[in-house]
Amino acid sequence: MIQIISAIQRKGGAGKSTMLQSLAVSLANDNAKVVIIDTDPQMSCMKWAESLEIKNLDVVEHVNENSLRDMIQALSDRNYDVILIDTAGYDSRIASYAIKSSNLLLVPTSGSKSSIQGSADTWKHIDEETENLKIRPIVKIVMWNVNIQSNIFSHSKKQLENANLPLLDVVVPRLTGFEEMSWNGGMSVKSSTRKAVASFISALQRHKLIDFYEDK
Ligand SMILES: Nc1ncnc2c1ncn2[C@@H]1O[C@H](COP(=O)(O)OP(=O)(O)OP(=O)(O)O)[C@@H](O)[C@H]1O
Ligand SMILES: [Mg+2]
Repeated sequence: MIQIISAIQRKGGAGKSTMLQSLAVSLANDNAKVVIIDTDPQMSCMKWAESLEIKNLDVVEHVNENSLRDMIQALSDRNYDVILIDTAGYDSRIASYAIKSSNLLLVPTSGSKSSIQGSADTWKHIDEETENLKIRPIVKIVMWNVNIQSNIFSHSKKQLENANLPLLDVVVPRLTGFEEMSWNGGMSVKSSTRKAVASFISALQRHKLIDFYEDK
């Protein structure tokens, strides 16, 4: 069955696009046929993919409010295993449709106060948007772009836990390799960055949030 995963967060700049790009490259390397739908008018993923040639990975743009449903259907018919949807926030019709049509919603959260508040707002918004669905998407808050050396990290983690948000048990640190991805395209070649992505993916696999593709 096709998996649809969206990145969503009220607070801008939390790492949605970088997180999806990292996930996309890893899954494609694992032989999944992956497509990113870039619904952000800033076109971060489209730009990131401009000079990119990765087997099994495509990026398409979609900024038309009305027909994300048709786009998802068309891509499902083209035998993709995973559709990743990058959004520009949560209060558009496109984001609302992405929320309702996903199996998994990932909410990246740095240690900042505004990002933590953004996660709580996003979680509440998703809850309201999906309350009438028969099958609701799984939601995971991902600590992303976090300065793990700072005591703000443990403080912010505690805040997220105390708020009872569905926190994924992995932390993706702040690393220059991730910043370079938006300039260079593709996945960072730095081993620290690759390691961080690998532990992010294994946390998702451990909790059965994404399928294994190795045996395809
Ligand atoms: N783990 C990380 N370590 C260091 N820098 C990061 C990390 N993740 C993202 N960044 C950088 O932070 C900035 C914001 O990331 P990104 O564009 O992925 O966020 P976004 O949520 O998609 O933003 P927007 O709301 O504008 O779409 C970018 O410059 C990116 O390179
Ligand atoms: Mg973005």
